[in-house]
Amino acid sequence: MSKIKISPSILSADFAKLGEEVIAVDKAGADYIHIDVMDGHFVPNLTFGPPVIKAIRPYSQKPFDVHLMINPAVQYLADYAEAGADIITVHAEADIHLHRSIQVIRDLGKRVGVSLNPSTHERVLENVIDDIDLILVMSVNPGFGGQSFIESQIIKIQKIREMIGIRDIDLMVDGGIKPNNILTAVKAGANAFVAGSAIFTGGNYAENIDKLRFAADKIE
Ligand code: DX5
Ligand code: ZN
Repeated sequence: MSKIKISPSILSADFAKLGEEVIAVDKAGADYIHIDVMDGHFVPNLTFGPPVIKAIRPYSQKPFDVHLMINPAVQYLADYAEAGADIITVHAEADIHLHRSIQVIRDLGKRVGVSLNPSTHERVLENVIDDIDLILVMSVNPGFGGQSFIESQIIKIQKIREMIGIRDIDLMVDGGIKPNNILTAVKAGANAFVAGSAIFTGGNYAENIDKLRFAADKIE
């Protein structure tokens, strides 16, 4: 079986029964639980705050992979850590002082992620790459589930994989991941995948996760 990590995005879950949905994707084989935090300012949509994360925390022991699409982020990082985040990912575009946000997450004892919008050049990672655990390449413009994968991000994933070298950093891709494109991203060097609509559409979460893993395994 593949060594890739799958992080189902609960943005595509039924919000009226979020706890049950977290249990369901956990049992279906999720490696992480991806939680998309949106502020209606950095992105044109609003989602969850720390109280919602705290409320669903008891429903899974899997790492909570919290993707902060908020600007500014730095003054809220402790709230997300206390609410139960294990990985906290900030956008390179969000805070003026990315390095400070990384330090704050590290000092909170959490795993550090940095995300890049599709238009952001990978060079922004150069001066922080030794301080992070996860790089999240956005393959859609953040804000909504169910968008189409932006092909230009494949070359960026390749370049970032080269930059990572022997470092132990997850290279995660978020947006439009489906069984028909996951292999291209695996070949480019990604090892972790967020999927919302591909997992929550259709109702059989285990089958949907297996389809992604099976497609990702087809590497020669
Ligand atoms: C987009 C979010 C994604 C989104 C992915 O802003 O960061 O995590 O939920 O959804 P799909 O897999 O449907 O593109
Ligand atoms: Zn996300």
